[in-house]
Amino acid sequence: MTRVGIYPGSFDPITRGHEDLIRRSLAFVDKVVVAVAMNVAKQPLFNQEERLTLIRETVKDSRVEARAFDGLLVEFAKTVGATVIVRGLRAVSDFEYEFQMALMNRNLAPAIETVFLVPAFDLTYLSSSLVREVARFGGDVSALVHPAVQRALKQKYGR
Ligand code: PNS
Repeated sequence: MTRVGIYPGSFDPITRGHEDLIRRSLAFVDKVVVAVAMNVAKQPLFNQEERLTLIRETVKDSRVEARAFDGLLVEFAKTVGATVIVRGLRAVSDFEYEFQMALMNRNLAPAIETVFLVPAFDLTYLSSSLVREVARFGGDVSALVHPAVQRALKQKYGR
């Protein structure tokens, strides 16, 4: 039996923190579907195709698949056969939102479990929004994202 995990998020763009969690997920699932949400209220920097392409360029592992989804996460999880939702917990400030989301997802789909993973110590402070902010003002993001993402950020911001 293949155990499939789904790792949802905005991934605008994928960071070393996301990569770390994908790698950690592979310790307990056979396949990870990185699910890029299309319906989040935020105005993304990268469009759907760009975000998917950056994930595929960053994570080259046959056990990892990047897919876009619209609508409810649990419905998409069912269509890809996922039984586990993976989310990262970086700080206490993440907890309330994550806890609410996990309970709501369980309410909608009781057979799907949410698993929280703690990122590597040196990546705990990292977020896509911080990476965008640093890149926007010409800061060095080379340690925070894959080179493909760094190039894409340079192109977007022209610096
Ligand atoms: O990277 P983010 O913005 O923290 O990811 C949030 C995401 C995409 C996981 C969440 O907003 C989501 O699952 N959206 C899909 C809609 C959905 O299922 N909402 C109900 C969950 S309570």
